[in-house]
Amino acid sequence: MLGNFTFHNPTKLYFGENSLENLSKELDKYGKNVMLVYGGGSIRKNGIYDSVIAELNKADKQVVELSGVMPNPTIEKVMEGVTLARKENIDFILAVGGGSVCDYCKAVAGSVYCEHDPWEYYFNNWGEMTCRWIPVGCVLTMAGTGSEMDSCSVISKHSENRKKFYYFRNPDFSILNPVYTYTVPMYHTVAGVYDIMSHILEQYLSGTDDNTTDYIAEGLMRSLIVSSRKVLGNQEDYEARSNIMWTATWALNGLLSCGKPTDWMVHMLGQAVAAYTDATHGHTLSAVSGAYYRLLIDRSEDAVMKFRRLATVVWNIVPAGKTDKEIALEGLERMEDWMRELGLAMNITDCGANLSQLEGIADACPINESGYVVLTREDVIDVLRQSL
Ligand code: NZQ
Ligand code: ZN
Repeated sequence: MLGNFTFHNPTKLYFGENSLENLSKELDKYGKNVMLVYGGGSIRKNGIYDSVIAELNKADKQVVELSGVMPNPTIEKVMEGVTLARKENIDFILAVGGGSVCDYCKAVAGSVYCEHDPWEYYFNNWGEMTCRWIPVGCVLTMAGTGSEMDSCSVISKHSENRKKFYYFRNPDFSILNPVYTYTVPMYHTVAGVYDIMSHILEQYLSGTDDNTTDYIAEGLMRSLIVSSRKVLGNQEDYEARSNIMWTATWALNGLLSCGKPTDWMVHMLGQAVAAYTDATHGHTLSAVSGAYYRLLIDRSEDAVMKFRRLATVVWNIVPAGKTDKEIALEGLERMEDWMRELGLAMNITDCGANLSQLEGIADACPINESGYVVLTREDVIDVLRQSL
């Protein structure tokens, strides 16, 4: 039975090859001073920068640029943006990049008028955002995180070995042109694909009831698997790139958690690994998934039945003559075959982690309490050890 829920997603989306044409019209709604934020420079090489600048000029904006936002953006970099936005009296922040740039812009937008230290106030203590917000728009260049249509921002502080998230506000609008993702290196493309898969699984692998939300999740997973294989063979397959981009957005815009519990333990583990290694987000998730999912199947009958359903509906496992647990495990193995096919990290050693860090990583890992099994600290260390 579906539980009660509220679904409200305020982000306006423009999707498709010509979607950037809407940028100047959207910008007309905001003040003159725009902060254009991007990452390490890929947008200058692939031409997206020039197209965005043309739109900003068309809208007659005063533009201040902030570049160099790194994957897994840091709080120190956020403060650089806060200082610049205060100095330039910024009215609007335009993110042009992947999840890192988009997350970064949300953190800056919520911190410019905040009188507290943002790391302590938001990320460490989850203080309510009561200060003025600077509106954010996003031109997405890579599919995966769903940051284009959610309020989440994930920020790292290396001196404390922590990677933490906070819910600010959604972008007012996001522009999604699948062609922009053609130039994403394969390592990051597959990281994005597994991030999407993990977002779906972490909302799907919980609960025991029959509800529509789970059927939607199954459809999204089936589409993702088909399209990910096509992109492996052809970086510029529009059909596949567009399906992946659209799936990413739906995977984390609130829809898949409507009326059901969720279990974000794989993300908690992956973020804790990244806090120590700064590894690429999607690869940290693939590296810990196998060990965590086997623990669930070993410990919980409810988990066995949900993994059994996943195996038959999504991974096409034929159930005849097998126990429920055998079917569940066979589905997991089929999924791991697909992960290897994509070239994902299958252990945390590949992400740069080592045995001496396990206790620290466990300390950085919050425990999810709404899944099939509530882990102890020893369980966390055990999962990490088996993921080495
Ligand atoms: O720095 P640039 O030049 O932009 O290059 C990036 C970066 O090196 C490159 N790239 C992106 N678009 C490209 C491109 N290269 C060529 N052509 C393009 N069109 O790809 C690399 C990775 O980019 P990044 O933005 O870091 O990747 P992603 O979108 O996966 O974002 C990862 C961040 O998002 C957080 C992660 O933790 C991580 O910090 N997440 C945010 C979430 C949210 N807001 O809801 C949820 C997720 O679970 C996740 O935690
Ligand atoms: Zn993620």
